[in-house]
Amino acid sequence: MARIAPSILSADFASLADAIDQVKPEADLLHVDVMDGHFVPNLTIGPPVVASLRKHTDLYFDCHLMIDNPAEFLDDFAEAGADGCSVHVELGDVPELIRQMRELGLDVGVAVNPETPFDACEPYLDDIDLLLLMTVHPGFGGQEFMPEVMEKVRQARAELDRRNLGVALQVDGGINEQTGALAAAAGADVFVSGSAIFHAADPLEAARRLGAAVA
Ligand code: DX5
Ligand code: ZN
Repeated sequence: MARIAPSILSADFASLADAIDQVKPEADLLHVDVMDGHFVPNLTIGPPVVASLRKHTDLYFDCHLMIDNPAEFLDDFAEAGADGCSVHVELGDVPELIRQMRELGLDVGVAVNPETPFDACEPYLDDIDLLLLMTVHPGFGGQEFMPEVMEKVRQARAELDRRNLGVALQVDGGINEQTGALAAAAGADVFVSGSAIFHAADPLEAARRLGAAVA
C-alpha cells in the first residue's frame, strides 16, 4: 500500500503545528528533515522541534538525518518522540548505527544518495525497516526529480521481493503526481513530498492527489 509522507521542510516553520494539522488526514507519516550544515549545505531543525511537535500530534515521525554524526543524536531523537530515523549509508559504520537505533526502539531507516549505488545498502536490507532512495541531492526542498534513480528503485524492489522482505521503499526529492507515479511504477511505496504539498494552494488536496497518483 502506498503511503504519503509530507515533508515539513517546505512548510512555514513559524506555523508548523498548523501546517501539520492541515495535511494530517492524508499523511501516513510526517517526514522531518534534519540537516547540520556539514553533511549537507543547509541547516534545519533538531530534537527540540521534534519534541515540541510530539506534544501536538500523534502522527508517525519519520526523521531523515542528514548529519555527520547521527550516533551522537539518535538517543535525543528517540527521547524527543521520533518513531523512525534514517541514517545515510555514505557515513559508514551502518551496522553500529542500526544496532543503536534498534536498542532505542526506533524504526530503522537507511538513506542512499542519488550517486550511491544499490550495492552500498544491499548488505543491510535484512536488518532495516525502511530504505530511503534520494531522488535529489539532499539539502534543499524544491529540486528537480532525478529519473535516473528509478533504475536503483527497480533494483531495490526486485531484491526486497526476492528476499520477501517487508522493508518500506521510500523516495524523497522532487516528488509530485507525475514523478510519484514513475517511482510507484518502479516499486516505491512511501512518497516523501515537500514543496508539491506545502507550496500548493490547498496542501491537503495536493496530498490527496499525490496519494491517488501513486495508488
Ligand atoms: C531534501 C529532503 C527532502 C525534501 C523534499 O534534502 O530530504 O525530504 O524535503 O522536498 P521536495 O519534495 O520539495 O523535493
Ligand atoms: Zn528528506
